[in-house]
Amino acid sequence: MDIWESLTRPFLILAPMEGVTDVIFRQVVARAGRPDLFFTEFTNVSSYASEKGRANALERLEIAPSDSPIIAQIWGKNPEHFAETVKALETLGFSGVDLNFGCPDKNVNRAGGGAAMIKTPELAVECLKNARENTDLPVSVKTRLGWGDPQEYQGWLTTILREHPAALTVHLRTKKEMSKVPAHYELISEIVKMRNEISPETKLVVNGDIRDKTHALELYEKYPEVDGFMIGRGVFANPYCFTDYMPTREDLMGLLNFHLDLYEEYSKKHRVSYEPLKHFYKIYINNFPGASDIRARLMETHSVEEARAVLSNLC
Ligand SMILES: Cc1cc2nc3c(=O)[nH]c(=O)nc-3n(C[C@H](O)[C@H](O)[C@H](O)COP(=O)(O)O)c2cc1C
Repeated sequence: MDIWESLTRPFLILAPMEGVTDVIFRQVVARAGRPDLFFTEFTNVSSYASEKGRANALERLEIAPSDSPIIAQIWGKNPEHFAETVKALETLGFSGVDLNFGCPDKNVNRAGGGAAMIKTPELAVECLKNARENTDLPVSVKTRLGWGDPQEYQGWLTTILREHPAALTVHLRTKKEMSKVPAHYELISEIVKMRNEISPETKLVVNGDIRDKTHALELYEKYPEVDGFMIGRGVFANPYCFTDYMPTREDLMGLLNFHLDLYEEYSKKHRVSYEPLKHFYKIYINNFPGASDIRARLMETHSVEEARAVLSNLC
């Protein structure tokens, strides 16, 4: 059964976020309150297709039982590498494949991938076709409105919709706007109309500045033909953002301890660095007297043991 067909509207998705939504953090979000669908961080198809990069690509594609259903997100610019990668994804437990045509990162764009695809629509279509022809998994696309001008969506999204992807997620900003301006909610109705005219079977997901479930439901009331809502940074403000529940300080501390446990377990199998883990502390240690002091002390730690020592003084 096509995962996109099986989701009940309006469905909620955890956005792919490089360096954030890895196999560890997805389990944390699942424990707090799962979305209807997870995405992996993006994986480079040319990395997967190369002997040297494959092990690393496969590590990025590791999934846990609580991740399911989950979509593997991939990026690149080589149509053959898209074909090779999607074939492998079928055997790895994914429910679908998503092509990233929206990442604004300079290195990614220089390599011709992510949002650079907006400037090479024919290549984007070739990659999409190649992906679809080489897997039975549903193939979706996540992109932005355009490269520079939000009105570019008219041509760019038409090009993508004519290929009838299983789903289209639109981050309602251009590449140049990065995340610096409010998401263009004013364009949602027009995009819905385009989807309805060109590819009514494509599920439409909107993304950008959606804080939590309540906010998503407010948007759904206003735009009832949108199928799903994707939340990214909202999870930093509240890891329980996919639920109606307001976590207590104890809940957040429990979640932090769970995150640390998973990190320790994972580091037994893989070489991981402690530094990136520190970026997560602000999610849990927040909004109570003395929180900023504790965060400052956590920033000076060099290991999970040291972090646990700081935290043990809290109780
Ligand atoms: C740290 C970070 C990493 C991201 N990595 C990816 C990625 O790997 N793939 C992708 O499609 N988008 C990526 N994005 C974009 C998000 O998926 C999302 O489109 C964007 O943050 C806007 O949604 P939000 O306002 O809900 O955060 C990333 C965003 C952030 C903040």
